[in-house]
Amino acid sequence: MHEPSVFWRRLATGAALLVALGACGKHAPAPSAQPSEVKPTIAEAFASAKIPILPRSPVVPARRTNVLPVPPREGPPDNPVLVALGKKIFFDERLSEPPGTSCSSCHDPARAFSGAHGSSLGVPLGSRAGHFARRSAPSVLYMRYVPKFHFFEDDEAPQAQPRGGYFWDGRSDSLVELVKQPLFNPEEMNAGTPQLLATKITQGPYAKAFKAALGPASDPTAVTHGVGVALEAYLKSDEMTPASSKYDAYVRGQATLTEQERHGLELFKDRRKGACSGCHRLQETSTNPGESMFTDFGYDAVAWPRNRDLPANQSADNFDLGLCERKDTVLPSSDKQWCSSFRTPSLRNVAVRESFGHNGVYKKLRDVVSFYAFRAVAPGRIYPEGQKFDDVPAKYQSNVNVYAPIYNQREGGTPPLSDADIDALVAFLGTLTDAPYLSKLAGNAPIAPSPSE
Ligand code: HEC
Ligand code: HEC
Repeated sequence: MHEPSVFWRRLATGAALLVALGACGKHAPAPSAQPSEVKPTIAEAFASAKIPILPRSPVVPARRTNVLPVPPREGPPDNPVLVALGKKIFFDERLSEPPGTSCSSCHDPARAFSGAHGSSLGVPLGSRAGHFARRSAPSVLYMRYVPKFHFFEDDEAPQAQPRGGYFWDGRSDSLVELVKQPLFNPEEMNAGTPQLLATKITQGPYAKAFKAALGPASDPTAVTHGVGVALEAYLKSDEMTPASSKYDAYVRGQATLTEQERHGLELFKDRRKGACSGCHRLQETSTNPGESMFTDFGYDAVAWPRNRDLPANQSADNFDLGLCERKDTVLPSSDKQWCSSFRTPSLRNVAVRESFGHNGVYKKLRDVVSFYAFRAVAPGRIYPEGQKFDDVPAKYQSNVNVYAPIYNQREGGTPPLSDADIDALVAFLGTLTDAPYLSKLAGNAPIAPSPSE
């Protein structure tokens, strides 16, 4: 079993202290004569547990002067020629076999570049009928902020924690290399051989642009590499880093949250309530969207319920083990303590997704938030009778996170989030929707007025 992170251990200590104090929000009784019996105030209890007390919102001044007009980035500025070429490739339906499926089929620009390609199973359909991707397709906006896979060292943590890497299991560190996977995966684009791909690129409508941007390609391997370079440029471009959500406007001091959205944000951060921000990280005091990706790019075994619609799951012993299946020998994560952990997804544009979590079992955002509210107190509402954590093999169930405040609750107890709290969280998550996708919010979050209104 992996050790709970320092964050959760500190939190557990803090929570225990709070319980010991017996009263939230009230001051401890006056100190008695015996110094050893002096009860700390809540603030002192938190301080001794080394829990930084975060300011509750609002922390953002009404109007900022230091607003960043364009999200800052590392590395050289966009190369417009490469970005334009990458965009053409991204939308090119000729590349699949049979033709008709492009990157944009599963990363649909109308849905913030996530999507199901017409499938209702929770995972997208590939280029051939009856062939499905293994996992749900995340949004590919904001790719410039995904760090390379690494183990994050915290001085006080008993063990370094895995972070970063592309895909739900972090198995790729390079977009240039990554794109070969959807292209040649027979369940996704099924593009055949690099030879076939090279023929379509070098004899297709943008052959000249390809040559102008990347030089003459000597062989199919070089063409495939060039495709990767162009797609990487597009995926990391300013265009794919919009930061035009109401939340972004709010941290810039250019929009106000509704009462319900503000309550949702408070619950999101409140360590005795949702504590969502422990993993889905945000930095309200920064206008740099990179600081508010709503993920720390860490991994967690959340124990999403099993998606029984997935064809592979017809076999009872089929399990997606996530991080421990990643095959890397330099920074291995194959230890069984990482089984059933998945990368914490960014929640930007989450409300326009068609399915949620790595296995896409949930189709409505509200059901995801309810999952968090009921997993610990009423597992019978989440999993089939007697099958708690049904998508985690029995031998790995000790990996499941039971320390985070939202899970660290007694079965049968009061849910940490009320119905109104769940609605508020959903409303807040709606504010993470970039301007072009607001019309797709229906059913998942109340349609918020656009930031300019
Ligand atoms: C058939 C559907 C499908 C198609 C087509 C497809 N993808 Fe994906 N994409 C997925 C799925 C599913 C995942 C998640 C896979 C995983 O985590 O194991 C994914 C993940 C990604 C990621 C990682 C995102 C992250 O947050 O780590 C990138 C980048 C990506 N795809 C780019 C592309 C590009 C570029 C193309 C076109 C060459 C493409 N995809 C075509 C389904 C698809
Ligand atoms: C301990 C870390 C952790 C905490 C705390 C946490 N999450 Fe998550 N969240 C994850 C991970 C990991 C996943 C992916 C789970 C999977 O696919 O197996 C996830 C997935 C999600 C998704 C689906 C996103 C998508 O793109 O499919 C939503 C929505 C979400 N979380 C919202 C919340 C909310 C709201 C809270 C607070 C009530 C919260 N999370 C608390 C780690 C966490």
